[in-house]
Amino acid sequence: MKICCIGAGYVGGPTMAMIAKQCPQISVHVVDLNQTRIDAWNSDSLPIYEPGLDAVVREARGRNLQFSTNVDEAIAAADMIFISVNTPTKTFGMGAGRAANLEFIEKCARQIARVSVGHKIVVEKSTLPVRTAEAVKLILGNASSDASFDVLSNPEFLAEGTAIQDLLEPDRVLIGGESQAAIQALADVYSHWVPAERILTTNLWSSELSKLTANAFLAQRVSSINSISALCEATGADVDEVARAIGTDSRIGPKFLKSSVGFGGSCFQKDILNLVYLCEHFGLREVAAYWEQVVSMNDYQKRRFAQNIVKTLFNTVSNKKLAIWGWAFKKDTNDTRESAAIYVCRDLLLEHARLHVYDPRVPESQIRADLEHVLQDENGEISPNKAALLQNVTIADSCEQAADTAHAIAVLTEWDEFRELDFERIYQRMPQPAFVFDGRNILDRTRLETIGFEIHSIGRCHQRRRLADT
Ligand code: UDX
Ligand code: UDX
Repeated sequence: MKICCIGAGYVGGPTMAMIAKQCPQISVHVVDLNQTRIDAWNSDSLPIYEPGLDAVVREARGRNLQFSTNVDEAIAAADMIFISVNTPTKTFGMGAGRAANLEFIEKCARQIARVSVGHKIVVEKSTLPVRTAEAVKLILGNASSDASFDVLSNPEFLAEGTAIQDLLEPDRVLIGGESQAAIQALADVYSHWVPAERILTTNLWSSELSKLTANAFLAQRVSSINSISALCEATGADVDEVARAIGTDSRIGPKFLKSSVGFGGSCFQKDILNLVYLCEHFGLREVAAYWEQVVSMNDYQKRRFAQNIVKTLFNTVSNKKLAIWGWAFKKDTNDTRESAAIYVCRDLLLEHARLHVYDPRVPESQIRADLEHVLQDENGEISPNKAALLQNVTIADSCEQAADTAHAIAVLTEWDEFRELDFERIYQRMPQPAFVFDGRNILDRTRLETIGFEIHSIGRCHQRRRLADT
């Protein structure tokens, strides 16, 4: 059995590495157009940071796992081809800002059609709008050779930062398709390590829609608890206590109730907007409006956080140094796509703040690229005024360096290393009052208040307000 995967990204890379590790008899070839990315997969410094990934790649690479840019060759040799290329939100034309851009998927399908001989199973791994498989089937059906194809949908549910654990012990593996033989062939791959009862099979459209729905439900929980966080701040309730209280109801459950500065990542917003677009396409206006609100609430949460910083710092952050701790969209990843940090920092830069950013895994070039992107106009250009704001960004080597002489610290990613720092020393190096805005509620509030910080957490009244109330 030979597998090929097109797309060596956050999904394709770890997923294929796990299949290769668990199935030494299957040859797995991961291909990508991006030579730099492939070179990194073949080096000691992998292109993505994911706990435990290095060991999995090291075990299989060179044995039954290879990375290359030989796309045609890998497709021709494979029995099963995974498509794991990116499907970003369209930025132009029909459906701009909502629909998924399926340009890369179509290109892959055409390439597969062009170089295939014999029978192939084509597996959609990328998250796609419902009925994309129809288009893929149509393109493959017009292959000039005598090749034949089965198309399966096999969405990935791994979360970044815990990808290896999620792949090793998935809650379920979902396979949608029409041909029982093809479904069985893919189920046989996973059954090397996933118990049979966790391998669910459905029709193609249910599988495609389940992925969008799962992400929409998860994001909805975060937006729901974030909406309550605003009410907590206004009323004196504590959002973490509320989350604990409702999460012990077994019908609700404790997961995805952590209030935050807002969800990020490549999937939640993209998939919900895609769902909204689909609903509108089918004339389901109320359904579309319902789901769109999950994204609006998330935008509100990010905006609210930046505004709270400005208001608290006496209505001006102009020329004030602010420490930004964390840039990745969550801990244990170097991925910054749609990270709340980008939007919070954009808003603070527009208020003329001076930002000193520290993230343990995200390189300076990525932070600068993210900010440039978010400050561009619709033609992709940055006005001289906005370009000048980028001069106000400095990248720090540590939390301490970022916070040195800063008026405030904003915690935007929940990295573990932010919890255990010498806060007494940090406090002494800051002008007073020294503010902390904890966008992840990870810091020990009592300890920080004892030192003298004024700490503002998500979904909790801050000390000044609490004292005024008593
Ligand atoms: C992507 C999608 O964003 C997500 O919706 C889906 O569920 C899985 O695939 P991810 O792996 O995180 O997620 O994307 P990314 O890290 O951008 O990787 C995609 C890779 O595909 C890139 O390395 C890109 O170079 C490659 N690619 C893209 C190709 O090899 N060929 C193409 O035509 C387009
Ligand atoms: C998500 C889905 O969980 C995964 O199944 C799917 O395959 C891809 O999309 P990912 O985006 O990698 O995974 O991470 P996730 O853990 O879901 O977090 C997404 C965002 O929500 C992060 O910014 C995270 O910080 C935030 N979040 C999550 C909260 O703010 N509160 C929570 O309680 C949980």
